[in-house]
Parts: sequence; C-alpha cells; structure tokens
Amino acid sequence: MARGAAESTDVHHRLFARWYPRVARSADAKGGAEHRRELLAGLAGRVVEVGAGNGLNFSRYPAEVSEVIAVEPEPRLRRSAEQAATAAPVPVRVVPGRAEALPDGLADLDAAVLSLVLCSIPDVEAAMSELRRVLRPGAEIRFYEHVRSEGTWAARAQRLADLVWPRVSGGCHLSRRSTDAIDRAGFDVVSSRRFRFLGLPHVVGSARLPTT
Ligand SMILES: C[S@@+](CC[C@H](N)C(=O)[O-])C[C@H]1O[C@@H](n2cnc3c(N)ncnc32)[C@H](O)[C@@H]1O
Repeated sequence: MARGAAESTDVHHRLFARWYPRVARSADAKGGAEHRRELLAGLAGRVVEVGAGNGLNFSRYPAEVSEVIAVEPEPRLRRSAEQAATAAPVPVRVVPGRAEALPDGLADLDAAVLSLVLCSIPDVEAAMSELRRVLRPGAEIRFYEHVRSEGTWAARAQRLADLVWPRVSGGCHLSRRSTDAIDRAGFDVVSSRRFRFLGLPHVVGSARLPTT
C-alpha cells in the first residue's frame, strides 16, 4: 500500500504501543499462550487477522493455513508484527488498515481471527459488516476476547473504569459485551468457552457464516 494510503488508515496509540508488547508477553506466560493456541487450533486456508498488534499469534498458526493477512493500524505495533511475521511457520502478510474499512482486494477468505480486539475497535458493527464482506459463505470467525462481567457490581466497576482506561490502553473498553456483536452480525456461534483470566471474564470460541 502506498505511504499516503497507510497514513490515512493509521491510528496512533504511542504510549500503548510501547507497553502492550511487554504486558501481553507476560500475560501469555501466565496462560494467555494456551488461549491463543485454542483460538487458532484447526484453522486452514486464507485467514484475515484483524488488529494483529505485535503479532503474538503468528507463531501459533497451524501448517494448514496457507496465508495470514494481518491488518494492524498502529504503526509501531505494525513494525513489530512485520518482524514477527518473518519467523512465522506460515506466510503472514502484515498490512495497514482498520477493521471498519478492510484493505481492498480481500475477498473469499476462509476465516477471520479476532484476538483481544473487539474491545478496542471504535465501530464494532462496521467491523463485523466488513468481515461479512471479505469472508466466503460458511467461513469461520475465531474469537478470544475479554468481556463484561455478569455480576452487577463488577460490571458497574468496569463501566466506571471505562471512563479512563480506554485513554491509556489504546481504546480498550473493559465493559463491552464484545461477542454479542458476532451474533448480531448473523454468524452462528459454534463454540464459546467462558473463563476468568487475570481477573477478567474472557471468552474463546468460534462462529460460522451461513453457507447461503
Ligand atoms: C489489545 S491489542 C490486541 C493485539 C493482538 N490482537 C493480540 O492478540 O495481542 C488491540 C489491537 O487492536 C488494534 N486496533 C485498534 N483500533 C483498531 C481498528 N479500528 N481496527 C483494527 N485494529 C484496531 C490496536 O492497534 C491493537 O493492535
């Protein structure tokens, strides 16, 4: 993509882009790596990963994946992702772009990966409709997200935290019911496992587009 085009899709979260790789690596060491493995197990074909960050999933794609198109709008994280792509076991192409306006030329993909990203995308509905546009009928979405607590007080605390937290964490919201958007977009949820991790409720699972 031309430099001008990349700049128009970039989002700058300079502080977040500096601390996220360290914090994410530490989370992976405490169990996140196993969740990422579960997220990606059994994937095959051409895959789009939206908001790929510094590329922590890349080393875990199964050999049956023929290509990963990794979309990342934050320039510093994108550069780290490009580095990670060079060591990936499958071909990974890192491209600038936002989930709400995926790069031109993506079509007929076999799967999409959403990994700790629905919390941060400003317009989740637009992102889901973009995914519907680039995926083939019957394609899969894999998701690994932290979500809103079911307890009233915990959910209130999350909503309160969201007055400040998104400003220092690259737009991440703690109180989103992120995976509801997958349902609303017309995907059929195939599996969804809810668990607590690092004090927050998380969900890992998969959903499919109807075949017609
Ligand atoms: C918490 S990080 C997760 C990174 C990575 N997916 C992972 O699993 O480690 C959230 C990511 O979403 C990206 N992001 C923020 N707004 C976005 C948007 N509109 N479209 C796509 N990605 C976005 C951020 O730049 C960041 O890389």
